[in-house]
Amino acid sequence: MTRNLIGKTCFSLFVWFLPLSLFCQNGINPYHYSIQKKVLCSKGAVVSAHALASKTGVAILKQGGNAIDAAIATQLALAVVYPGAGNIGGGGFLVAHLSAGTNIALDFREKAPALATRDMYLDKAGNPLLSLSQNGPLASGVPGTVAGLFASLKYARLPFSKLIQPAIDLAEKGFTLTEAEADAFNKNREAFLKYNSIPPAFVKDSGWKAGDTLVQKDLAKTLKLIRDQGQKGFYEGETARLITEEMQRGKGIISQDDLKNYKARERTPALFDYKKYTILTMPLPSSGGVVLQQMMKMAEDQPLKSFGFQSVKAVHLMTEIERLAYADRAKYLGDADYFKVPVKTLVSYPYLNQRMSLYNPEKAGNSKDIQGGTISPVSEETTHIDVYDKDGNAVSVTTTLNGSFGCKVVVAGAGFLLNNEMDDFSVKPGVPNMYGAVGAEANAIAPGKRMLSSMTPTIVLNKNRPYLVVGTPGGTTITTSVFQTLMNILEFDMNADDAVNKPKFHHQWLPDQLFVEAAFPAAVSEQLKKMGYTLKQREQIGRTEVIRILPGGQIEAVGDSRGEDTAEGY
Ligand code: GLY
Repeated sequence: MTRNLIGKTCFSLFVWFLPLSLFCQNGINPYHYSIQKKVLCSKGAVVSAHALASKTGVAILKQGGNAIDAAIATQLALAVVYPGAGNIGGGGFLVAHLSAGTNIALDFREKAPALATRDMYLDKAGNPLLSLSQNGPLASGVPGTVAGLFASLKYARLPFSKLIQPAIDLAEKGFTLTEAEADAFNKNREAFLKYNSIPPAFVKDSGWKAGDTLVQKDLAKTLKLIRDQGQKGFYEGETARLITEEMQRGKGIISQDDLKNYKARERTPALFDYKKYTILTMPLPSSGGVVLQQMMKMAEDQPLKSFGFQSVKAVHLMTEIERLAYADRAKYLGDADYFKVPVKTLVSYPYLNQRMSLYNPEKAGNSKDIQGGTISPVSEETTHIDVYDKDGNAVSVTTTLNGSFGCKVVVAGAGFLLNNEMDDFSVKPGVPNMYGAVGAEANAIAPGKRMLSSMTPTIVLNKNRPYLVVGTPGGTTITTSVFQTLMNILEFDMNADDAVNKPKFHHQWLPDQLFVEAAFPAAVSEQLKKMGYTLKQREQIGRTEVIRILPGGQIEAVGDSRGEDTAEGY
């Protein structure tokens, strides 16, 4: 049974004159589709940033695929229909809880190329050259997404060729653009022309408009190589050659060896208890698992519920918790394969209690006074997919190119965008990256190292069964958005829709500002200012996807209204 709770159709286009068989893949019409924000269903659900990707995932579930199959197919579809963040040229993290009880954490984060050096984005005088860490081929880390897809395939049921075919069809035959997508291409036109020697498929001289069809023949060709040759179809042969040629044209440093040597890694999942729940999330090199764990543990014995949702007291408390955790992020967190990170101490109750002693219930903290804690030596553009299947398997996967359209470079002849993930390293201690985040030695650049991430794909378990599947894009706001969404449900008893769509706020230690969305209550803002906070309004905080399994087994799936995110189920 499927019931649209709102069925908010934001977009619908019709191409009546083409025979339906020409474009109907898996019963999905890529020229006529609608965006659905919520669904209540009983068998399985997929939420992602694009309607065609969510529909692809549900079609795979209906064909007998499990949640991992659906996550693979949805990711591949996003690489075609959501090129601003969906990707094969980026990287990400996946956590999953399989119905047999296994928990998985898969790291397919990009890596610094072998020729990367600590000061590669500094001029001779030591000044940061952020244009190089953010745009053009030198900004790109070695992509991890394709290795991640194949590393997750061992948990899937269907053949890979079946999972990638919808993406190939969408690239080859095209799909209809929404107004927001057309605008995004038009806004980035100059950058695409500046950073590409051959104009990519995203450039249209007359400008894009809603209803236009985007066809990506080169991308279809690359996807077919991956279908036919597996991981080697990306990391070796023709595609690797095209990537390295692109590097040579634009002074990038990714080599054929960097590509051939890339490996996704299975990590020990970050698992911790919050009251009666177990939280399953991503460990380093994503900061998400450590920071979320710190924040939830600092919140756990506080009277948040009695303070009330977005009361001044609750926002003040949660902001100070965010400040403390992000100060530690800047000081201590980086790729633990390269730098000794004191994770155990950072998430321990004695340490966190000591940190909470800095919290003054009457007054805003000050990031000059609050530094990362002392430990004795002994530690925005991204996209998220939630999937839940009829057998109780749950997958939460966040992938990224980093900035919107990554480094803006489309590999000529291969049709996919490269990431600008090198900017997630700390290019110099104290110099903010594109998200305003600062870092230190732990996150300095080194060859082969993975840059620190904020991605926080998360699953909440109740009695070892999935209760919530959660995640979001949003750079450094990712972990605070997941934290607030979880608190909204676990403490403030909200349904998934409210938990996702109520206004959010964000503090990341530096800059010492409390960011709030436009709809954040003005009266609360005024009182927070009186307590000493500097407030800054920002456009949106996160685009959170939630699947919630209700008592009795009904599935409530919600896509964030901040974007064109779509929840599908059956
Ligand atoms: N590039 C955003 C992140 O990994 O946090």
